[in-house]
Amino acid sequence: MAMENFKQFLFALSAAVSVGFVSTIFVLRWVFYFKEGLAWDGEFAEFNWHPVLMVTGFIFMQGIAIVVYRLPWTWKCSKLMMKFIHAGLNILAFIFAVISLVAVFDFHNAQNIPNMYSLHSWVGLAAVILYSLQLVLGVCIYLISITPIYLRAAFMPLHVYSGLLIFASVITTALMGITEKLIFGLKYPKYKDSPPEANFVNVLGVLIVVFGAIILWIVTRPSWKRPSEQVLRSLPTYGDGSAGTKMGTALSQQTDPIDPEGNGDARRRSGKLEDSGQVN
Ligand code: HEM
Ligand code: HEM
Repeated sequence: MAMENFKQFLFALSAAVSVGFVSTIFVLRWVFYFKEGLAWDGEFAEFNWHPVLMVTGFIFMQGIAIVVYRLPWTWKCSKLMMKFIHAGLNILAFIFAVISLVAVFDFHNAQNIPNMYSLHSWVGLAAVILYSLQLVLGVCIYLISITPIYLRAAFMPLHVYSGLLIFASVITTALMGITEKLIFGLKYPKYKDSPPEANFVNVLGVLIVVFGAIILWIVTRPSWKRPSEQVLRSLPTYGDGSAGTKMGTALSQQTDPIDPEGNGDARRRSGKLEDSGQVN
């Protein structure tokens, strides 16, 4: 396998998917076992769509969308196809987030509860608005081919930085929301008396942090980055692994005309591997 430390990558990916999956089970058990279930009736069961869709869509799906370029078995797929998958998953996550917001605003209006008073709602709405901007800019710059190459390359560090900043803000927002809901909802016994629901949902919060931490780890490893198209095309077996030792050829250009958005890390990684003969 061409990827350096492939086993560690597989371990991190499996851990992220498992923790994300368990978080989904936890949020569903919270609303069905401890709370009122799910419905669209202006009551608490309508509010419950809010945490369910945020955790499954805006956190879990967004996390997977962020690491999708890093899956080594997709390196033989075209970059365009991977862009569609990355954009598609992000669009789906955005749709989940919007339905989740409609649920909570509709519930507040039906119950005459004021809107947008909490820090949770301010940071949360800002994250959703920035996310929509990131989506529009991503589509315009990387999917619509009229964007000049230099602009694509120049914008990439900002795209990655803002993507990760939004993802981290969404996780922070979820923790605030969970805490608020436990304080509002638990009366007898109260939150401070640690009833089973409080402990259970605290664990959900910890799982969400662990999921975010693993995703951020995967996406910040330079050696796990998808190699640039130029490198992939120079390999006889086109990314199936055995050609890893050939990486590092044709790596001298600063901006790859075939893949302007691929950053230099992969190239540095490739060069390093070839120099030290570490590839297996
Ligand atoms: C309300 C965003 C996750 C609990 C809100 C509001 C926004 C928002 C914008 C304001 C709605 C209004 O004023 O009518 C987000 C985002 C999340 C998220 C972006 C992404 C993770 C969660 C989670 C919970 C939660 C996981 C856990 C139960 C609440 C509660 C309210 C609320 C209790 C009503 C009180 C308030 O406005 O602060 N959320 N939320 N949220 N959210 Fe979230
Ligand atoms: C890479 C986030 C939407 C195109 C990335 C990365 C992040 C990210 C964190 C770094 C991935 C890595 O290093 O492996 C987001 C978020 C989005 C979004 C949060 C939605 C709000 C889009 C859209 C496109 C796009 C709509 C259009 C196709 C790209 C491209 C890369 C990238 C081309 C570079 C991949 C590479 O060369 O390895 N994105 N993105 N993104 N994104 Fe997005």
